[in-house]
Amino acid sequence: MSLRPALETAQREVQAALDDLLGGFEGPVGEAMRYASQGGKRLRAFLVLETAALHDVPRSRALRAAAAIECVHAYSLVHDDLPCMDDDDLRRGRPTVHRRWDEATAVLAGDALLTAAFEILADPATHPDAAVRIGLVAALARDAGAAGMVLGQAQDIAAESAGAPLSLEAITALQRLKTGRLLEWPCLAGPALAKTRPEGLDVYARALGLAFQIADDLLDVEGDAAAAGKALGKDAAANKATFVSLLGTQGARARAEALVAEAEAALLPYGDRAARLRAVARYMVTRDR
Ligand code: IPE
Ligand code: IPE
Ligand code: MG
Ligand code: MG
Ligand code: MG
Repeated sequence: MSLRPALETAQREVQAALDDLLGGFEGPVGEAMRYASQGGKRLRAFLVLETAALHDVPRSRALRAAAAIECVHAYSLVHDDLPCMDDDDLRRGRPTVHRRWDEATAVLAGDALLTAAFEILADPATHPDAAVRIGLVAALARDAGAAGMVLGQAQDIAAESAGAPLSLEAITALQRLKTGRLLEWPCLAGPALAKTRPEGLDVYARALGLAFQIADDLLDVEGDAAAAGKALGKDAAANKATFVSLLGTQGARARAEALVAEAEAALLPYGDRAARLRAVARYMVTRDR
């Protein structure tokens, strides 16, 4: 089961959808939105496309949901890179938006990517049933907002100056919010678009989200900056609360492996049709970027 061709096809399709959906926005903010949404592995988009395919959702609908989550993800990165957050100069191998333009443009392009996502989801082309669209919008608002990713980011920043190291429980909760939620939404978008319940995809998504952030934290310590396309070695310097800071690289890797096994096991109800989702879970911890 090779993941690469399917992922590459998804990357091309999602880029085309984003070009189309973001093409009309004017001025430097519009340009910065398109710039920030380019590149990336498109893992969140891929999770939408694969969980949608599992439920025979038309590709055109799935692609809109995939584009929407990539917009929210791109916004989260633009803001994460700002000087008041992680203060990074490089993202996806190119200057960050506030370096290429300025901070005001980065803040506004991030804001606009976030709202564009909701505009995309709310459009009847995403699903003819308004209840399905509202469900996707409400879930994304919850997952991205002040009880979701934003809260996780706030906890991430607060942990930098905490007096004592966070417990394993606290780091797990922080990372589930910061990173997990924007990976959980795409896993549940497939069944939502098919108006059906997830059969284990919720368990898969949780495990995958945590494994993903552990891999990101391991890459920060052991990765190759040229491959990653961003500065590495910054978490320890910033006193970030990560699984690596608590468990060491070996302990963190073992935990990521256990989470991948958990994610794979959660897909059993789907049988062979979930082979690519199983491969994605494994890719989470073998990737070099
Ligand atoms: C990076 O996410 C930010 C985190 C949540 C750790 P990705 O590693 O998915 O970034 P891209 O989209 O491929 O650039
Ligand atoms: C970013 O986590 C998570 C979000 C943007 C929500 P990191 O700060 O670890 O991501 P990188 O390492 O900058 O990509
Ligand atoms: Mg950060
Ligand atoms: Mg960062
Ligand atoms: Mg990181």
